[in-house]
Amino acid sequence: MCGIFGIVTREERTLGPVLIEAGRRLAYRGYDSVGCAVLCDDGTIDLRKDVGRVEEVAERLGFAEMRGRRGITQLRWATFGAPSRTNAQPHLDSEGRMVGAHNGNVVNNVELRERFIAEGMTVRSTNDGESCVHAVERYRRAGDDMVTAIRKAANDLHGDYAFVIGEAGDDRLYAIKMGSGLVAGIGDGFTCVSSDLPSILPLTRRVIRLNDGEIAVLDADGVTVVGVETGETVHREPELVEDDMETAEKGGFPHFMLKEIHEQPKVAGDLLHLLGESKHVVPFLEMAGRARHLYLVGCGTSHHACLEGAVYLNRLAGRSATPVLAPQFIAQYGASVGPEDVGIFVSQSGETKDVLNAVEAARARGMGVLALANVLGSTLMNAADHYLPLACGYEISVPATKTFTNQVIAFLFIAHRLGNRDADCLARIPALLEAAIERALPQVEAIARELADREDLYCLGYGLTFGIALEGALKLKEITYAHCEGMLSTEFKHGPLSAVTEGYPVLFVPGPEDVPVMISAINEVTCRGGRAICIAEPDPRIEANADHVVELPAAPPEVNPLLAVVPLQLLAYRLSVLRGHDPDFPRNLSKTLTVD
Ligand code: AGP
Repeated sequence: MCGIFGIVTREERTLGPVLIEAGRRLAYRGYDSVGCAVLCDDGTIDLRKDVGRVEEVAERLGFAEMRGRRGITQLRWATFGAPSRTNAQPHLDSEGRMVGAHNGNVVNNVELRERFIAEGMTVRSTNDGESCVHAVERYRRAGDDMVTAIRKAANDLHGDYAFVIGEAGDDRLYAIKMGSGLVAGIGDGFTCVSSDLPSILPLTRRVIRLNDGEIAVLDADGVTVVGVETGETVHREPELVEDDMETAEKGGFPHFMLKEIHEQPKVAGDLLHLLGESKHVVPFLEMAGRARHLYLVGCGTSHHACLEGAVYLNRLAGRSATPVLAPQFIAQYGASVGPEDVGIFVSQSGETKDVLNAVEAARARGMGVLALANVLGSTLMNAADHYLPLACGYEISVPATKTFTNQVIAFLFIAHRLGNRDADCLARIPALLEAAIERALPQVEAIARELADREDLYCLGYGLTFGIALEGALKLKEITYAHCEGMLSTEFKHGPLSAVTEGYPVLFVPGPEDVPVMISAINEVTCRGGRAICIAEPDPRIEANADHVVELPAAPPEVNPLLAVVPLQLLAYRLSVLRGHDPDFPRNLSKTLTVD
């Protein structure tokens, strides 16, 4: 998703390196183009932008040399308008006197563009970020001051967005938050604003987290916050962010994804430690325990964690819980839920729009809202009655790995506690994950080489490993660009079995308790010439039936799924690299999907 950053300094200086660094820190969201603009004291605006990676575009267009007193960086992930130089942000107004960039979606962009063109403005792109600039320009032309123009523009712009804008001949930048994240930072002789806290923290730890409906007016000496509706100044005391920000470096690994896979034992331990002490746990469990019915709501990988969570809650706590993809929540349950029900909303980013929409629907029906989220201070965390943090630190790679593991561990913990069970087995998870990684690394290599040219495969699980099979398939699709479908093993014979021909690869994830039922599915494939690759604990029954086994360390049945996902993550990673892709930043994808 798009990311924005803006900075105002006391004197004109070379801002390029600061803007490039901010861009690098926004890059984890996924993007297709990048741009920088600086506003100079002589009234000129230097705007450079193009499709490509931050480092590459910065080098090609000479971002590093850009000088000015105010600067804006934007990384764009295309929604309105194809990825192109023209659609890249920031954008100028008609006369080239204002420049701005946005994050989010302006849903009435098409109508606005037509209106701006009819009114004689110069509209250069089809991107909705440009509409933000023209919406302000319209009122500036009519004689309003900047803040009033932005407030009026906000009435015209429909959707969830945030934007930053500056004008020649002014020494401030202005930023507005209307549904997308926005944080302002206050430093010594400068102020800055960004969609993401991590791009601010290297510069300053004094921040103001803007609320929706607020405008930040930034000058070199401070930030003034103004309410969009009232136009009045809102007193906001800056907070000091003390969290130790992990430096987003690869730590010797070739990719963030591999680093993050290797971090799983550590973050699992961190989470278990935190859950043992956190003040968030009791109110969270009390609300979940009181619920008439629990809904587990998420998207993508987070949804797969919900699938695991539902099995854990049933098995360990005797609680029925319904896992549901966030955008289906209203369609499937909107008319039947009420104040007695509770949703556990699961999201790495805490900013996924599909999930936030479901939260809003749940709230409207009086439901309790619980959250499992990784990004502290995210919209989901703020919207929840109670939350449990996932304690993974920053996950940079677009494919989620360590956050999935900790989501599943969080559910395992919740199920144990709601079921009043002895949770001793949880303490073994970090060491078992460590062993699973060590064992899988050499074993996965051979399979990756065997599957490198395959464009089509299946990944089948059952019971506790159903969600794992879906997650493995998602990882494979996401970063290898091959088609891999995750499925319940027993469903395979109801149709997909027809795809099997000589050598056709099918991955199986048999949990220790489900070996007999899996053996049937394995044989349905192998007797038709298909190749069965199993990810399982050592078991003579599996060895006798499968073509290839990736061995997992022996573990309690509820912990087995956490270990089984590791070889699938590593297999996806190795296949991606072998096929010449960048697993950290797969094409077309974004880490944080803040649009419908
Ligand atoms: C996972 O590898 C994906 N990148 C994606 O499915 C992701 O899990 C999904 O977009 C939900 O994101 P969230 O957890 O931040 O809400």
